[in-house]
Amino acid sequence: MLMLRMLENEDIEIVEKWLNQEYISKWFGDASDWLHEIYERNITYKYLRHFIAQDGDKPIGFCQYYNYNDLPIEHREIPQPTETYGIDYLLGDENLLGKGIGKQLVHLISQKLLEENAKAIRIIADPTIEDGNINIVSIKTLEANGFRLDKESRLYIKDIN
Ligand SMILES: CC(C)(COP(=O)(O)OP(=O)(O)OC[C@H]1O[C@@H](n2cnc3c(N)ncnc32)[C@H](O)[C@@H]1OP(=O)(O)O)[C@@H](O)C(=O)NCCC(=O)NCCS
Repeated sequence: MLMLRMLENEDIEIVEKWLNQEYISKWFGDASDWLHEIYERNITYKYLRHFIAQDGDKPIGFCQYYNYNDLPIEHREIPQPTETYGIDYLLGDENLLGKGIGKQLVHLISQKLLEENAKAIRIIADPTIEDGNINIVSIKTLEANGFRLDKESRLYIKDIN
């Protein structure tokens, strides 16, 4: 059964390996940026909550959430209500793709942030990268979890009732 636990220092090596795979880096960009945030997670990036997804004892993925309004202002391109949370997620093994696990992962990280933030009113994700490429599989994963495209911001949004 898939579950989430907090990322520990011992996990950084495998997360680095995952991030450097082409099918991930094409959407996540330079691994060093993500690793920097992970290393500094208890200092500069306290607002990021990093998790490892485990299937039994086996780590199979990484995800994180953050309060959008805690991001540095230059990264808050579109104003969002307070208590809006952003999510990011990946599966670390290409052989696991396309089996419905990503849908579970998005469900779990969404549930986790709602459990930890009772006032959360919105979850957002951005499956578009700077040159305009869109991550179709990620979009389908979000849509299966109740996210919908906001045409103005181009973000995928799930409002919590
Ligand atoms: C995005 C990711 C987490 C999705 O996980 P996954 O386990 O591969 O996806 P799932 O099997 O749960 O499928 C999710 C949806 O995508 C569809 N899908 C899966 N693989 C697909 C493919 N190769 N082409 C088209 N659609 C596909 C599924 O049919 C499903 O949609 P449905 O419910 O409408 O049928 C995973 O592909 C991944 O880690 N990718 C690399 C990192 C990444 O892109 N992260 C997101 C950054 S925004």
